[in-house]
Amino acid sequence: MAIIKNKSPVLFFYNDSKKWLMNISKKESLHTHIGVLKHADAIGKEYGSRLMTNKDKYVYLLEPTMYDYIMKIQHGTQIVYPKDLGYIAARAGIQDGQKILEIGTGSGSMTSFVASIVKPRGHVYTFDVDEKFMKIAEKNIRRTGLSKYITQTNLDLKTSKEIPVTEMDVALIDLGDPWVVLPKVRQMLKGSGCIFAICPTMNQLEKLTIALIENEFTDIESTEHIIRTIAAREGKTRHSFQGIGHTTYLCFARKAFFGRTAKTTAKTTAKTTAKTTAKTTAKTIKAKTIKKSTKN
Ligand SMILES: C[S@@+](CC[C@H](N)C(=O)[O-])C[C@H]1O[C@@H](n2cnc3c(N)ncnc32)[C@H](O)[C@@H]1O
Repeated sequence: MAIIKNKSPVLFFYNDSKKWLMNISKKESLHTHIGVLKHADAIGKEYGSRLMTNKDKYVYLLEPTMYDYIMKIQHGTQIVYPKDLGYIAARAGIQDGQKILEIGTGSGSMTSFVASIVKPRGHVYTFDVDEKFMKIAEKNIRRTGLSKYITQTNLDLKTSKEIPVTEMDVALIDLGDPWVVLPKVRQMLKGSGCIFAICPTMNQLEKLTIALIENEFTDIESTEHIIRTIAAREGKTRHSFQGIGHTTYLCFARKAFFGRTAKTTAKTTAKTTAKTTAKTTAKTIKAKTIKKSTKN
């Protein structure tokens, strides 16, 4: 049985649009338009129990999930939403024990979600250029309790010559021009490892796809995920008025070896051999001619 203690995280749930995520602090109260709740009254209760406010409204004490943390995240930047995160994890084959590279930590939404899957044996190495966003992400990550599975580094991976990590299982990219970092990501990724990039527009998708082929990636797929909530009630179920509009397109690919290097080497070797043979033949002919003329 999971019991709420002082400092435990709790989602105070009234309905889908009125919910509050906080850590229990025995001297604090939650003040809302549906009334006041004392945190101390939650201590000792099982998650899932309910409390009544001073305005006679019931609020459920739920144990927060990654979905709750992400939907309540502090936004420093645009974030990747749960509607996309589920498919990203499935398509990229993310699992416990993997080493994940992420470029563009932003607010840490995707970072936290992925860490929650690769833990306890795996790790997320995430990079960002902006220290302000890094601080927001750090706070958001700390709230999820996943900090020890994440290393945040302040580095511009577009301009840096450094290859900070290698042998990554998966690479996640969320910055405006993902094609710029492809050669570098290739060096950090295992053969057959999945690369995933966020592309808010179709133009970016096109540019990225061209660059993926140039950089020897295969199994390329672009998708858009639209979620439609249903307001289900007896006798009057219909589509909900709520919903997230267009967020982004997703692009996936796998690191492959097209054999271009081998082909180039073979061509160069053939050319060099031909040149050397031609030179040797020419030298031999010249030598023979000189010998002949000396005799004469
Ligand atoms: C849209 S946000 C990422 C949001 C994140 N995926 C999330 O779910 O919270 C893009 C981030 O990329 C970072 N960024 C931009 N250029 C970068 C670069 N060259 N190297 C590393 N990070 C970069 C920005 O500072 C910004 O924080």
